[in-house]
Amino acid sequence: MTKLNDTHSLLTFLKTRKSASAKAMAGPGPDATQLQDILEIAARVPDHGKLNPWRFIVFQDAGRAAVGEKFKAAWAKLHPDHGAESLDFQATLFMRAPIVVVVVSTAALHFKIPVWEQQLSSAAVCFNMVLAAQAHGFDAQWQSDWVAYDEAAKAAMGVSEAENVAGIIYIGTSTVALEDRPRPDVAGLTTYWGV
Ligand SMILES: Cc1cc2nc3c(=O)[nH]c(=O)nc-3n(C[C@H](O)[C@H](O)[C@H](O)COP(=O)(O)O)c2cc1C
Repeated sequence: MTKLNDTHSLLTFLKTRKSASAKAMAGPGPDATQLQDILEIAARVPDHGKLNPWRFIVFQDAGRAAVGEKFKAAWAKLHPDHGAESLDFQATLFMRAPIVVVVVSTAALHFKIPVWEQQLSSAAVCFNMVLAAQAHGFDAQWQSDWVAYDEAAKAAMGVSEAENVAGIIYIGTSTVALEDRPRPDVAGLTTYWGV
């Protein structure tokens, strides 16, 4: 990903940036200072009612393998018929990138702000984190995967039953050149009311 700087304008960056795949990602990833910056930017999103209805869990270093062992155990219970290859893959899920950030939606019933709006804010956080990582010159991908929905895997990550995984953001450096995907025909998706 081309780092956003004075010669690479914000508009060019926004018009050309694309996500990597966690399947082909390695180091380097952000250092502690860069990661802090990425998290600060991610939190700078619209948030109706200023509720901060989200939080972050960072996986790095040995923590990625440790949680992977718990994923493996959860997967084995879900799919007792699966072989060693499938199980071992689950153990390495978070080892595919140097930094993995789980964005947790803590949305809850509120007298004024609908839960839906709180969840929308957590989606904004996820994408802002992708943008911040890419602007720093790293590659990133927003994923969900089965671990976002399985209660045992959620518990392993430190996510409660009342919370939702809004996104699992993989941040690192792609080992392959990024290929763009077909982009939506925006004109076909847009109507001008009354015209
Ligand atoms: C909520 C959400 C969950 C996603 N989960 C996955 C996933 O589990 N696996 C995957 O390959 N892509 C997933 N994606 C898609 C990628 O994040 C991304 O859209 C794709 O790689 C292209 O992104 P780009 O438009 O930024 O280039 C998900 C996207 C969203 C919004």
